[in-house]
Parts: sequence; C-alpha cells; structure tokens
Amino acid sequence: AVLYQRYEEDRDPNKFVTDQDQWEQTQIVKSQLKVGAQDRIKDDEDYSYIFDDQAIDFLDWDWKSNDKEDEIIARIDEAERKAKTIEETRKSLPIFAFREELLKAINEYQTIVIVGETGSGKTTQLPQYLCEAGYTKGGKKICCTQPRRVAAMSVAARVAEEMGVKLGYEVGYAIRFEDCTSDKTILKYMTDGTLLREFLSTPLLDDYSCLMIDEAHERTLHTDILFGLDIARVRPDLKLLISSATLDAQKFAEYFDAPIFNIPGKPYPVTVCYTKAPEANYISAAITTVMQLHISQKNGDILVFLTGQDEIEAVQESLQHTCRVLGSKIRELMVILATNIAETSITIDGVAFVIDPGFVKQNVYSPKTRMESLLVVPCSRASAVQRSGRAGRVGPGHCFRLYTQHAFHNELEDNTVPEIQRTNLGNVVLMLKSIGIHDVMRFEFMDPPHEQSLISALNDLYALGALNNNGELTKLGRRMAEFPLDPFLSKSVIWSEKYNCTEEVISIISMLTVQSSVFYRPKDKKFHADKARQNFTRPGGDHFTLLNVWEQWVDTNYSMNWCYENFVVYRSMSRARDVRDQLVGLCERAEVDLKSNPNPGDIVPVQKSIVSGFFMNAAKLSRFGESYQKAKYGEPGRTIHIHPSSSLFQVNPKWIVFYELVLTSKEYMRQVMEIKPEWLIEAAPYYYSQSELDNLEGKKKMPKNNKAAQKAAQS
Ligand code: CDP
Ligand code: MG
Repeated sequence: AVLYQRYEEDRDPNKFVTDQDQWEQTQIVKSQLKVGAQDRIKDDEDYSYIFDDQAIDFLDWDWKSNDKEDEIIARIDEAERKAKTIEETRKSLPIFAFREELLKAINEYQTIVIVGETGSGKTTQLPQYLCEAGYTKGGKKICCTQPRRVAAMSVAARVAEEMGVKLGYEVGYAIRFEDCTSDKTILKYMTDGTLLREFLSTPLLDDYSCLMIDEAHERTLHTDILFGLDIARVRPDLKLLISSATLDAQKFAEYFDAPIFNIPGKPYPVTVCYTKAPEANYISAAITTVMQLHISQKNGDILVFLTGQDEIEAVQESLQHTCRVLGSKIRELMVILATNIAETSITIDGVAFVIDPGFVKQNVYSPKTRMESLLVVPCSRASAVQRSGRAGRVGPGHCFRLYTQHAFHNELEDNTVPEIQRTNLGNVVLMLKSIGIHDVMRFEFMDPPHEQSLISALNDLYALGALNNNGELTKLGRRMAEFPLDPFLSKSVIWSEKYNCTEEVISIISMLTVQSSVFYRPKDKKFHADKARQNFTRPGGDHFTLLNVWEQWVDTNYSMNWCYENFVVYRSMSRARDVRDQLVGLCERAEVDLKSNPNPGDIVPVQKSIVSGFFMNAAKLSRFGESYQKAKYGEPGRTIHIHPSSSLFQVNPKWIVFYELVLTSKEYMRQVMEIKPEWLIEAAPYYYSQSELDNLEGKKKMPKNNKAAQKAAQS
C-alpha cells in the first residue's frame, strides 16, 4: 500500500521502464495479490495463496460475479467448433443481409452515409460488394481509406485472402512511403493521407469509380480535407460512401446532403463497472485488474486500451514477469494490449472483458505558442462507449472503466475534437494552396479550424519561404509540396542542395521518421545496450548519432546481424531505408540534386540545412539551470527540457533546435541538435531579428532607433 501511494504522486508512464520501477511495479501487483494472506507469504514461491477462496477485490470494483459466464463459454465454443469457411464467414456478417439493399441505395444516390457497429463488415465487405456489382468494369478502381496505416495493411491482407488473390495484385494497399499495388489492382485500401496526395497529382481521381471514406467518425485531418474538397461535385459519376461506426452520422448526412443507411447490429449487453474513487495511476490499476480478472474469471479474452507503444511494452513486460513468477499456478494469460486502434479500426473476436483507463495520446497544438505536442489526455465519452462495446461481440461482457462514474458523466468531453482543430496546419495550407485553393480561410471545412491556427500556418509558411507577400506559393513552396513531409522537413531537404549535403539530410530525415524505435533496450541487457548506443554518439547532437547509425548500417550492406549485435532495431532500419528510397525518388521529381557532403568532418552544412527548416523549434538554455525556453513565442515561465535519451542530455548547449516535444512528467524535446544563433537569422530573416536574439542572450545594448527591437524588448 505504501508503494502504491508513492505512485500516486507520479504519473510519468515512461517511468516504468527502469529496473527499479519495474521491480516496484511488480511489488504493487504482489502486494495486492496478497490481500488477506499478507503475513503468511514470504516470497515469490508462496503464490498459491492467490487461489484462496476469499475473493481478491484489489481495486474495489463494484463487481458482480459473472453469472452469464456459461453463456459466454457456450458462445466461444460454438464459434470455435464451427471453423467456418470463408464463404460462410462472409455470409454470417451483419452486413450480408443488407447486401442488395445497400447496392440499390448506392446505385440510386451518389453519396450515402453508412453506419454500423464495429465488426459488422463495412470495411471488408462493402468494397467487395462493389467489385461484385461491376463497379470496377472499364478499368476503374475502388478505393477505401483508413485513418491508420496498420488498418489499411491488415484489412487489405484479409480481403485478399477472402477473394483468394495474392496481396498486391487485385487487392492492394498504399500508405505513405509504401505502395503495395500493381496494374491489376482493382481494390485499393489506403490511408486518407495517401488519397489526398493522389488528389494532388490527379485532382479528378479519374482512376476510381467509388471512394469509401471509412472510419469517418474519427475526423482525422486528412478525412476532413477530403470532405471539404467536395470531389463528388466535380465527378458526377463517382460514388462516395462515408462510413462511420458511431451514431453521430446525422452531421455527415447534413454536410453531404445524403441519406443514412443503418446496419443494425446485435451486440450483447455489456456491464460497465467504475472505480469508486479516481485511480492515481492507470497503468498499475490496469495491470492489477488484468490479473484480478484472469484469476477470478474462467473464460474470455481481456482487451486493455493503452495510449502508445511505450505503455504497451511496459505493461506487457510487467504482466509477463508476474506470469513467470506465478508459473504453472495460473492458466496462460490471454490478453490484448492495444491503442485506440482497437476501438473501431480493427475487430478482435473473443473479447469478453474490456479495461478502459480512459486515456488517449493526442496531438495538441497551441496557436499561441505555436507548439505542437503529444499529450496523454482523457478520451471522449464517445470513445469510452466504443471501447466498452468491444466486450459485447461474442456474448455478454464486462467493461472496467478505471475512473469514476462521476468522471464519465462530468469530466469527459462528448466527442473527440476533430484533428483539424488541434494541429499545426502548415501542411494543410501548403496542400490546399498547391491544389489551387488560394483563399484557405474560406475553405468549407466541416468544422473549421481556429482562425488563429490558419493565420499562424500562413505566417510559418511565409517564414519558411513557401509563400510570398501575397500569400501565393513560391517556387520553393511548389517544390516543398511535392514531398509527403511536414513543411519544415521538406524545406530542409530542398535547402540542403545549397549546402551540397542532400544525401546526409535525407538520411537524417528518414531516421527521424523512425527515431523513437531505433535503439533496442532489453531489460536483461540494459548495460550492453546502453554501451552500444553510446558508441554511436557523435558530436553535434542526436541528428548526427542517427546519421552515424544509418551510415554504419549501409556499410554492412544492410545487415540484420549487425543490427542484433548493436542493439539496433532491424525493422525500424528497414523502414527508414524504405522512406529514404522514396525520398530519393521524390528529390529527383522535385529536381533536387543529390550531393554528398564533400567534407564529412565538417558538420556545419548539415546543421545549417536542418536549421533552415527547423528554426521555429529553436530553444535557448536558461541562464540558471538546465531548462530551455523557446526562442520565439515561448511563454515566460514555460520551460522545456532535453529528453534523457538525448546525447545532449546534461551537455546542455546554449542554443539548440529540436525535432519534437513530448509531454510526460515534463515537457521534453526529443532529437536535439546544437546550433549557433546567427544561423537562425540566416535561415529566417523575417522570423528572427538580431536584437531579439541579443535580448535572449542578455545583451543589453540596443540600437536606439530600432523600433522592432524596442518592441521585442518590451514584450
Ligand atoms: O468495418 P467493420 O468494423 O464493420 O467490420 P470489418 O472490419 O469488415 O470486419 C468484419 C469481420 O471480418 C470481423 O468479424 C473481423 O473479425 C473479420 N476480420 C478479420 O478476420 N481480419 C481482418 N484483418 C479484418 C476483419
Ligand atoms: Mg471497419
């Protein structure tokens, strides 16, 4: 109980990765497993006590014993006994009964909104029905968009299997930096971002006869822009299907002036349990609940909603450890740890218990400080309802919300705020401008972004040199739009040409796309892993460390063994390689000369190229201590810190630029590079002024008649 209290003061999920914390984490589970038998237990061996008959109500759930259990078992057995053929499975999905009606409605209307429970067959079946109904005659394709890469890939694989074809032939997928389609492809799953990029090169999307915008309720940035483009109006022959898993379809119907087609589902009832008091640490509460359910319930898989890879890995490790300790005394644990991808995008059969800590990792953008950061925030009520629904697919289920009923009703937002209202719009504006939509303030967004966000995006693009005084795309801006990258990345790529180091810069940028998963740090080999990582460190900052990893790997001819020996994740490296190959192609298209730094010992050209795009992420070391403040639009009192994983952690150079901000216990900058302040002015003379930087440096003297400088000093 004491340990538990300690954790109440500490919400940093990253903390679970240290040895000490891992140990403590296990102690928490242990101390709670031991309820009622405390003084009899001496060590790990004595876990047989957990089978003592008094129920272990660790989290004080308002838990009723599962009287529907037999029914659940019967359902699962039945499902397993009938190892159905693919054909039978397809026919058993709720959507099948509506096949003809759906096709009739699609024939009749240009646009329809389709609503149905997760798992009813929208994503896998509808596009197949369209193929079967002849919509791919005459060489046209059917496109189905997904907000997430993983969903696009896995659904395409499933549909290829159902159609009995090889993935990449008749059925394929396309995601950023990866195209798994061929001339034969008639059914293409892709991310919404990829469709948007196709729109850039072929604005009428002539290749397609039908577009299915799936998971529309997620309201991703790209889905919202696709909506606003109103493609159906310029292509009267195009069929547009908007599909959503939730019931807020009315809004789509009004926006598109389209009918709603409802696929009724038959979900089983789900009993929802809340904690009686708020949980201070949702990770440990989730772990405890998993063990509690596993021990007290006989059947049914457990699905836990976490916010990201770090949490999933920490929980996985902790659960595996507990299971090892308990050994044969408990059954094998079946538990699925997932992010909100399992809310609607991917259906997992067999789940009877859902554990919902009530959080999600989200991009949050502040137009005031012009900073974007990844935050773990409470999920919306709509998300919570979706999550609990996942427990009722095979039989009556239970959902455990790791928060109070009061919090559910009073503290959660109704719906997730659309991404467009919480992101940096630089990319969107660049994209709209290059499509030819000049007046972005008047673009018909379903939910318009904040005016201030659009204005900052326009200003940022101006500072980057992508727009001119009149807000028109410059030649540089046009070239930048060729790259499926954030504007500050594409600017760095293009600008590196001036410094003859494009090869190095695209290597760094490819590595930045996988940065969080390059280094492998297994629990039992931490010392060796850290040593291997240290050996990669290069002066100048993390960008050069990443570049070094990349170059060494290339020298081994992309060896898998080398990765294992050096605690580098092969999968991430392969992905960086794919990204890099694509960037090479894009550079050729945008006519960027691929030159290699003639003097690799001199890193300044590479640093200047990076600064040319990243100048907005410049920060200066505070006069006292180890914290930093943003060089521009920093809020007084709001400090940011170098992430402990950075090679510049505790080195604390005076001036730096960073790749991204992540908020855990503090606001951390990840992937940090040392710079000189004069490079900022060189890169962005309209963004920074000398006096402003002098001011930050604490240089008092200021030219008397420089109004801008005086103003900057006053504010
Ligand atoms: O899109 P929606 O949620 O309506 O359903 P779906 O994704 O088309 O899933 C229909 C059925 O296909 C479910 O029972 C899934 O379990 C199954 N499926 C699968 O087995 N493998 C996949 N990769 C995707 C779906
Ligand atoms: Mg789906």
